[in-house]
Amino acid sequence: MLKGKRILVGICGGIAAYKSADLVSRLKKKGACVKVIMTKNAGEFITPITLASLSGNKVATDMFSCPQDWDIQHISLAQWAEYIIIAPATANFIGKAASGIADDLLTTTVMASKAMVIAVPAMNTNMYNNPIVGRNIESLATHNGYLFFGPASGHLACGDTGTGKMEEPTAIVEYVERLTNASRSYEGKTVLVTAGPTREALDPVRFLTNGSSGKMGYSIAGAAAARGARVILISGPTHLQPPASVEFVPVVSAVDMYNAVMDSYKECDIVIKTAAVSDYRPAVAYNHKMKKTQNEISLDMVRNPDILAQLGKDKGKRILVGFAAESIDIIEYAKDKIKKKNLDMIVANDITQEGAGFNSNTNEGFILDSNGGMEQLTRMDKMEMANIILDKIACLFGKDNQ
Ligand code: PMT
Repeated sequence: MLKGKRILVGICGGIAAYKSADLVSRLKKKGACVKVIMTKNAGEFITPITLASLSGNKVATDMFSCPQDWDIQHISLAQWAEYIIIAPATANFIGKAASGIADDLLTTTVMASKAMVIAVPAMNTNMYNNPIVGRNIESLATHNGYLFFGPASGHLACGDTGTGKMEEPTAIVEYVERLTNASRSYEGKTVLVTAGPTREALDPVRFLTNGSSGKMGYSIAGAAAARGARVILISGPTHLQPPASVEFVPVVSAVDMYNAVMDSYKECDIVIKTAAVSDYRPAVAYNHKMKKTQNEISLDMVRNPDILAQLGKDKGKRILVGFAAESIDIIEYAKDKIKKKNLDMIVANDITQEGAGFNSNTNEGFILDSNGGMEQLTRMDKMEMANIILDKIACLFGKDNQ
C-alpha cells in the first residue's frame, strides 16, 4: 500500500532519468505523496516542469534557492520523507554518498534523512563492474542500510550490452510496495540471527575458519530491524559494521557461538542461522605457538556442538530457519537438514555458483519449508534475498505480506 506514503524521488544525471517521469507518475497513481529533487546534471536529461506536473509538487533543484515558507529545504525534505528512491542512482551519486560528500541538495538531503533509502543504479556496465563502485555500494548497504534494487541487464544507451540498465518503473513500484507492506510486520518479535564464520584455534596465532563474510546474516539482521523486530545478532569475526539498532554479540569459536545462542534463545520468537559454523575443532588448542619440528603433522579434530540441531530439540513455538551451503545434491541435503534439525524453513545456496554463497554481494538458491514447499531464488542482492526470506517467515507467524 503506497497510499499516503511520503516518497522523495531523487533523480541523478543519467540517460535513464527519462524513466523517472514514469516512476513518479506510477507512484502518484498508487496514492503516494511524491516530491522530487533533481541534481543539476539530471536537468540535462529531463526538465523540472515535467516532474512538477507529474508529482503535483514544486521540484527542488538548488541548495541555495530562496527558502519556501522559511524552511531549510534539505532539512525539511529530509524530515518529510518516509522513503527516498534514488533513480537513476549514478556512480557519482553512489560514490559521493559512500564518502560522506554532501555538495548538492540531493546528497545533503539524503545524508540528513532517517528515511529508508532505495537506490536504483543505472550506469555503463564497466562502470558498474568497477571495484570502486562495488565497494561504494557495499559500504552504503552495510553501513547505511541502503537497499539497492537492480541494475538489470540488457542493451544500454551507450551501445553496450550488459548489467547497468535501470530497473523498469513498474518493477521499482512493486519493490517499494513490497517494502512498505512489510514494514513493521515484525513489531513485537525478537529475532536471533547468527552470521559469519567461526574460528577454531590451533594455537595463539593459527586457526581454522571458512570464507563467510557475514553479508547474508547482516543483511537479514538489518532488514528484520527495519521491520520493527528486536534483533540479536550473534556473529563470528567479520569486517562488517553491525547494522544500526541491533543487539550485537561478537563471538569467535563455534563453542562461543553455542553459548551465546543458548543465552538468548529463550527470549526469541524466530531464529535464523546464517552462520557458517565449523563442524569440527582441533582436539587440542596449544597455549604456545606450535614449532615446526617435524615434516608432517596430523591434526586430531573433535565435533563441535550442532547449535541448530540442539535448538530443534527445544523448539517450542519458535520459528527455526537454517541455511545450507551445498555443492552437490542441494535440494536433497537441504530436505534432510529440515528433518534432522527440526526446522520450519531452510535456505539452500549452491556455493559452486559464481555470485552465490560465501563472500559475494549476491546469492541464489532455494527456500524449502517443512510442508514440502519449495521456491527457487534467482541471483539477487543479499539484502533483497533477506527481505524475501523475512516475507516467507512473516507468512509463518501469520503476518502475510501479500
Ligand atoms: O556470510 P556470507 O559470505 O554472506 O555467506 C553466506 C553463507 C554462504 C555462509 C550462508 O548463506 C550459508 O549458507 N550459511 C550456512 C553455512 C553452513 O554452515 O551450512 P551447513 O550446511 O554446514 O549448516 C546447516 C545449518 O546448521 C546452518 O544454518 C548452520 O548455521 C547450522 N549449523 C551448522 C553446524 C553447526 N555445528 N552448528 C550449526 O548451527
